[in-house]
Amino acid sequence: MIEARRISKFFSVINEDRSAEGFTVLNSVSLSIESGSFVSLLGPTGCGKSTFLEILAGLQAPSDGEVWIDGNLVLEPLPSTRKEMEEYKRKYRFLSPIANSLFRDNPKHDIAMIFQDYAVFPWMTVRQNVHFTLKLRGVAKADRPDLAARYLRMVGLVGSENKYPSQLSGGMRQRLALARALSVEPKIILMDEPFAAVDALTRERLQEDLLHLWRETKKTIVLVTHDVDEAVYLSDEVVVFSPLPGSIRNKVSVDIPRPRRRSSVEIREIKERLLAMYRFDTVHEADYII
Ligand SMILES: Nc1ncnc2c1ncn2[C@@H]1O[C@H](COP(=O)(O)OP(=O)(O)OP(=O)(O)O)[C@@H](O)[C@H]1O
Ligand SMILES: [Mg+2]
Repeated sequence: MIEARRISKFFSVINEDRSAEGFTVLNSVSLSIESGSFVSLLGPTGCGKSTFLEILAGLQAPSDGEVWIDGNLVLEPLPSTRKEMEEYKRKYRFLSPIANSLFRDNPKHDIAMIFQDYAVFPWMTVRQNVHFTLKLRGVAKADRPDLAARYLRMVGLVGSENKYPSQLSGGMRQRLALARALSVEPKIILMDEPFAAVDALTRERLQEDLLHLWRETKKTIVLVTHDVDEAVYLSDEVVVFSPLPGSIRNKVSVDIPRPRRRSSVEIREIKERLLAMYRFDTVHEADYII
């Protein structure tokens, strides 16, 4: 179970005249995600989806609020007073949440994240990329080849083991990112627009493969997407974010049994509802700018 409690995130930007400007990217976002469910986060560009996902993954600290995964606190807000700082220093080694998360003795939450741009190492072959995450996970050298072969089979990359990422298509690179995520054996996979850069047909294939993997492995999947069709077709629940400052606009359950038909009336109805929200928000935003 993932529980985000009143997550807010503020950024400050220094202007050319050296004045500082602060803005709120996420405003008190609360969300619970059941273990084993497939949830999509949908929202217009720049509304804070990637920021929210990184906070769930513990890669960024929220300015306020907490994330709990299976009863464990992922990251606390950074200290703002001397007293809080003393306490924080006793608990963690570094001020940077990312540096802290790299340490083995830090609590692990079994999360893998697939980033908006392919997070694979271009100087390693497909096989080496997977071996590398297995090594980080502490898998013995002798066990790595079999395990790597298994993950690459799961994502359909058999035959491409010796290629470098630059020799793969966009869809294949995304499959490699998925194989690497699986090789961490996470309970939760967070995906940030994983299929944005592939053509429509490849996208459909990757979606089917992802659904298949999800059914087989029973992992929790949180998918960020701009694509309303994708969100409705894949998910148990679609969470709609509103434009900045990002907050949850609505949650729509997709109670349609699987396998689903992309063109079914039920799917179309939910899609229309989501699009209506989108349109309203866009017009609202346009009025506001004028
Ligand atoms: N480190 C940072 N410093 C300042 N502003 C930031 C920082 N990171 C993100 N932002 C701002 O926060 C807002 C939300 O960014 P984010 O990447 O979370 O949006 P998004 O919803 O994922 O957008 P997209 O759909 O385009 O990927 C943007 O306006 C962005 O400019
Ligand atoms: Mg993003």
